[in-house]
Amino acid sequence: MKVSVQSPATIANLGCGFDCFGLALPVYNVITVEETILPGSGVEINVLGADADSLSENIPTSKNNIVFRAIELLYNYVGQAPSELKINIKTGIPIARGMGSSASVITGGLLAANELLGRPADQNVLLAIANEIEGHPDNITPAFVGGMTIACLEETGSVTYRKLPWPKEWKITVCNPDFELATDISRSVLPENVPMKDAVFNLRHASMFIQAVHTKDEELMKLAMADKLHQPYRMKLVPGLNNIMDELKHTDGALGCVLAGAGPSIAVVSNGKNTDEIKDIVHTCWDNINVNSKIHTYSIEEKGARIL
Ligand code: HSE
Repeated sequence: MKVSVQSPATIANLGCGFDCFGLALPVYNVITVEETILPGSGVEINVLGADADSLSENIPTSKNNIVFRAIELLYNYVGQAPSELKINIKTGIPIARGMGSSASVITGGLLAANELLGRPADQNVLLAIANEIEGHPDNITPAFVGGMTIACLEETGSVTYRKLPWPKEWKITVCNPDFELATDISRSVLPENVPMKDAVFNLRHASMFIQAVHTKDEELMKLAMADKLHQPYRMKLVPGLNNIMDELKHTDGALGCVLAGAGPSIAVVSNGKNTDEIKDIVHTCWDNINVNSKIHTYSIEEKGARIL
């Protein structure tokens, strides 16, 4: 028996919501998990798709693979150990670009394995296992449930989340530069402690962000996405980011420009009315410093990972 799951890309943080906010996009990986019949055939992991070559270099196809490690935790949860499994990861989400590729494959693998096992784990258990592998819940949660989410990681390891009613007209323009940035490197530049005033700044802005989304308040959103907890430290890892943010402050329709997750991609939230100009501005800023880019505008994906 085999099960395939389509699992979306995600953008975490959204500026002020570091390690907490995230949203899903209509770009997908497909993860297929098959219990092979031949005893002793072991675990086989294959990476397929457009980015397969670069992914194979980055994603181990041994038992260190994050999808396998998540599935193993699920099997352990039901008192079993996975022995004969074939895992195919068909990639549609660029890796190491801040689009939640790891969260997507972990989510897809867990949902597929849970189905194979007869659905022993509920969503809370799956979210907790996924988070144990991923480390923070902001990509995992929208990959599971879709939409825009606020996610809290409790000290027990459980994840509590709520979905926000993201305005349909608000679009996300995702700008991928032609270089990668691994999350662990992007986290390594963050300080252990931050000034109290910066923590308060983000608390205020994140609260305003939630209200802006609930009330579709474009003016409030324009101030709400600001961040002092992670982007200032990561700025040096993403050439051109500062300039692009400045340029977009004065662009009609742009509601905010942020680092997508841990970067290096940039996400621009807009009211959907001026996406071509937004795209041109980012292209030009990066062209000027010899960074090639691919830029696409998406509506939010309201559905999370689903069994095909
Ligand atoms: N919140 C995480 C970070 C997202 O910014 O490091 C990356 O997975």
